[in-house]
Amino acid sequence: MLRTMIREKREVRRERVRNDLRTYGENVLRSEEMRKAFEQTHHRRSTVGEHTLRVASASVMICYALKKLNVEVSVPAVVVGALCHDLGILGRKEKYSSERECLAGHAKDSVLVAKGLMEELPDKTEDIIERHMWPVGESKAPNSIEGVIVSVADKYSALRDVLPAAKSPELSGW
Ligand SMILES: [Fe+2]
Ligand SMILES: [Fe+2]
Repeated sequence: MLRTMIREKREVRRERVRNDLRTYGENVLRSEEMRKAFEQTHHRRSTVGEHTLRVASASVMICYALKKLNVEVSVPAVVVGALCHDLGILGRKEKYSSERECLAGHAKDSVLVAKGLMEELPDKTEDIIERHMWPVGESKAPNSIEGVIVSVADKYSALRDVLPAAKSPELSGW
């Protein structure tokens, strides 16, 4: 009984996350870039697309938790920032001559992709994408709470990507 209730509550929350991703990230989710993202390997066991959905779902869940604590966060900025943060890495073998170049350059390239997909890309969202690698490499620290959320969700999801038996309920229902 209790288990069933917990399972149902989780499913309601997942559906809420999916709704927010579809509402604010429609342009990105329907894009050719997102389709290609599911064809490129990322973090060895995953694809850019799977990683992207994990980051976006985890970011939105953090937003819900913070909102419960009365912390103001912009869910639309987090959704678009998270969905676009690694799209610049598509075609990495042709685009970058080394891992180092990829690490240093893909965030800015992701901003360019996001600008092509969104009619308008607010400064906050651009910053989320451009600084998402923080604290790795030479990335500047995010200058908004939304940027910190996506950076943290990115590192958490990168770990999930490489775990062999990780269950990924956030990837179902798409
Ligand atoms: Fe990245
Ligand atoms: Fe990432």
